[in-house]
Amino acid sequence: MDPNTSGLVQKLAEAGQSQLLQFWKELSPKDQQELFQDLQGIDFLEINGFFKSTMETSSSTKHEKMDGRMEPVPREVLGSVTRDRESLKDWEVKGLDCIAQSKVAVLLLAGGQGTRLGVSYPKGMYDVGLPSHKTLFQIQAERILKLQQLAEQKTTVKCCVPWYIMTSGRTMESTKDFFSQHKYFGLDKNNVIFFQQGMLPAMDYSGKIILESKGKLSMAPDGNGGLYRALGNQGILDDMQRRGVEFIHVYCVDNILVKVADPTFVGFCVQKGADCGAKVVEKTNPTEAVGVVCKVDGHYQVVEYSEITLATAEKRSSDGRLMFNAGNVANHFFSFSFLRDVVQKYEPQLQHHVAQKKIPFVDDQGQLIKPEKPNGIKMEKFVFDIFQFAKTFVVYEVLREDEFSPLKNADTQDGKDTPTTARHALMSLHHRWVLNAGGHFIDENGRRVPAIPSLKDGTDLPIKCEISPLVSYAGEGLEELVKGREFQATLMIDERGVHELVKNGV
Ligand code: UD1
Repeated sequence: MDPNTSGLVQKLAEAGQSQLLQFWKELSPKDQQELFQDLQGIDFLEINGFFKSTMETSSSTKHEKMDGRMEPVPREVLGSVTRDRESLKDWEVKGLDCIAQSKVAVLLLAGGQGTRLGVSYPKGMYDVGLPSHKTLFQIQAERILKLQQLAEQKTTVKCCVPWYIMTSGRTMESTKDFFSQHKYFGLDKNNVIFFQQGMLPAMDYSGKIILESKGKLSMAPDGNGGLYRALGNQGILDDMQRRGVEFIHVYCVDNILVKVADPTFVGFCVQKGADCGAKVVEKTNPTEAVGVVCKVDGHYQVVEYSEITLATAEKRSSDGRLMFNAGNVANHFFSFSFLRDVVQKYEPQLQHHVAQKKIPFVDDQGQLIKPEKPNGIKMEKFVFDIFQFAKTFVVYEVLREDEFSPLKNADTQDGKDTPTTARHALMSLHHRWVLNAGGHFIDENGRRVPAIPSLKDGTDLPIKCEISPLVSYAGEGLEELVKGREFQATLMIDERGVHELVKNGV
């Protein structure tokens, strides 16, 4: 483990990264061993190459130049829950059929660090404060269970929707432990497959790798596009092939309304013969932090919110809507063969994006400094950067209030995308499900509550109502439970029945 004789000193010198050994002599033998191992595992020339090309492609003038090349998604590739109502049933049937034949898998991107939310554990373990206190992971697991059940009812053959969960070095252990503690939320353990994405070092603006302590490099996950390398080198593609998976729904962990393996979306993509598809909601506010699906130089792509100029984000079409209004909700469809081509052929062509960050570092004297402004970059690949390689790309537009309420930030007054907004979005959707199934709500005086609850004390509080995904995946099957009945909030409907928590004094 001598850095000299092992060639490490020379390797670092050649890569211009000798600073990584500057505190070597001060480290304990254990720390030396760990640093040695970390450094041996890194391909510095590759990382220097990433840095160079990332810096070249990310300059702001490049973004400005890109603006002129952007075009909105053409109508012919667009399916919409509002404009294509007559086709929805067909698509759903098709999707359920694929699920029933165990051809559909879901893949969760859960390697992020949840920095904005400010929790030290994986975001999927977050409880937004629903009456049931279910976590995001539990809600998603139960939607998968329900969907398997719905598909099985059609065919009477047992089916399975394997759930692939991508974690990172920082989230792997806690995620696995959480699932095992909760007995995989009722899913078969063999069908929940964890794998780990790669990590990349953080660098200063001159391309030097940053030390977060004297013996430790500052490392971060390589972005949700790290998926493609991980699929190959962790044997996940092989696992999919072995199981006969043909279609994959990829989604992000933080959207409380996510329709995991959404049969209508899957069926739409399959019927259109697409190898790649993206779900979108209409972006109505130019500064909303969502990427937009569009074409650049004739190729489909997402232009991320961090990379679009305000002038372009504010552009409007003749009907007054935003010109780039296909807001990416980070729900993607891939055919297995497309995914395999990406992993085997196209992955190396994907460019990293730059995120400027405040990265704690040790200075030359070995002091830990926490900078107040960005002092370096993290490099990330993005999951949607493979759209450009699709032969048949489609876009599916859904309603925000039904399908998109991401959890990004901690609660603050008037905060956006917080635990409160996520909780309210879910309860208000479930409230509408009850009304649509013929149920009603009454207040404490026995009076019917109007369908659109009024503002109470200036606060827009939804009716407290939660329906377990084990009872209903998307609002179906509720009539027999609620039709013609009156309920007082808090209403909970789960596999044990219908409960009114107030009446029962809970
Ligand atoms: C993401 C989308 C954005 C979209 C928005 C909708 C990307 C790159 N951007 O933005 O276009 O409009 O969601 O909410 O997809 N993750 C990993 N590994 C990583 C980094 C992230 O698995 O190295 C996962 C996270 O756990 C999360 C997802 O990717 O599930 C999205 O990450 P996040 O950083 O929250 O993306 P946004 O910036 O919100």
